[in-house]
Amino acid sequence: MTTIDYRQDFPILKTRVNDEPLTYLDNAATSQKPQAVIDAMADFYANGNANVHRGVYTLAAQATDRYEAVRDQVAQLLNAARREEVFFTRSTTDSLNWVVQTYGEQFVSAGDEIVVAVMEHHSNLVPWQQLAIRKGATLKYVGLQPDGQLDLEDARKQITAKTKIVAVTQASNVLGVTNPIKTLARLAHAQHAVLVVDGAQAVAHMPVDVQALDADFYAFSAHKVYGPTGVGVLYGKYALLEQLTPAQFGGEMISDVDWQTTEFAAIPERFEAGTPNVCGVIGLGAALTYLQRVGFATVQTIEKRLTAQLLDGLTQMPGITVYGPQTVADHGPVVAFNVENVHGHDVATGLDLAGVEVRAGHHCAQPLMRYLHVSATVRASVGFYNNEADVERFLTALKSVKEFFES
Ligand SMILES: Cc1ncc(COP(=O)(O)O)c(C=O)c1O
Repeated sequence: MTTIDYRQDFPILKTRVNDEPLTYLDNAATSQKPQAVIDAMADFYANGNANVHRGVYTLAAQATDRYEAVRDQVAQLLNAARREEVFFTRSTTDSLNWVVQTYGEQFVSAGDEIVVAVMEHHSNLVPWQQLAIRKGATLKYVGLQPDGQLDLEDARKQITAKTKIVAVTQASNVLGVTNPIKTLARLAHAQHAVLVVDGAQAVAHMPVDVQALDADFYAFSAHKVYGPTGVGVLYGKYALLEQLTPAQFGGEMISDVDWQTTEFAAIPERFEAGTPNVCGVIGLGAALTYLQRVGFATVQTIEKRLTAQLLDGLTQMPGITVYGPQTVADHGPVVAFNVENVHGHDVATGLDLAGVEVRAGHHCAQPLMRYLHVSATVRASVGFYNNEADVERFLTALKSVKEFFES
């Protein structure tokens, strides 16, 4: 049991919803922000605002230094081989679309195959699907084992000599499973395909080492790691980035523009056209500093305990179906379920009346919903600032919602 009360660092957790204490269990959608992030962003606009990479004056140089320091921080967090392998985007979605619009456009042709998992979020599915349609390529899906884990045997069958890209999530936003990225990298590389990893649900919860994973591209969003919305990260292996033509053109990404031709700036500026979200990136830096101070050992201890409490409570309640593994071993902090004969939106609305905030719907994973033969699920997802009282309030409120619909 930790003695530090991290809740004190998150002002929103002191608020009330529908006259009840806020019980925030929608961390998979977005995490709440610690005061350190709010302060860093306010301080930038109050005392440090200037554009980056252009001015020679002091304020501009300081803003550039602060912005570039976050690139170092992210490179260190992901264990990138070089800082230039990291660049900033708007979100995971933006990062993944960037890979599609550069690597995908350049290297996928008619007859090639792109392999994704059935559990993918639409952000790591629709861009590939649209690329496949444009190019005349085939989009293939890796299925699940009965307990919701990725079916590696199926992955071995789906990844073939025709595969150009394997795009998978490291952690599912519905099933709570973590995928065997290293093995998938081996399978992809054996066929000379690249592995694109959606890290949106991973980076806040586990140490990520892109070199150990051997991921070719790795994407995540600041807002799910306790930072602000509007900032994403894309990591790419330098040797691959060197082969890519930028997807966007304009200021910041050039070194010389002539009447008819342009020489691009070095990597990574080449891939960051226009004024970036400087304040957001600084907010991301503050979030990562905060998260690393808490430490992944603490994060995982707390989240495991709360996930076990969620799974125990849900699996013991009659009339509840839990999707994904039923036991806490290898289970991430996301638990999706349904209440027999009650639509997920009704469950979530009932819980909201008790101040319990969970997500209900297809979770931007409609092919997965089809695979599971459901139209929607309810999802409770914890972060390290949640506590046992949050999970208890959720389980108590859920029992009342069930009783209401049964009566
Ligand atoms: C697994 C996964 N991938 C991608 C995304 C998209 O993230 P964003 O909306 O920040 O681009 C999400 C967001 O919920 C997600 O859970």
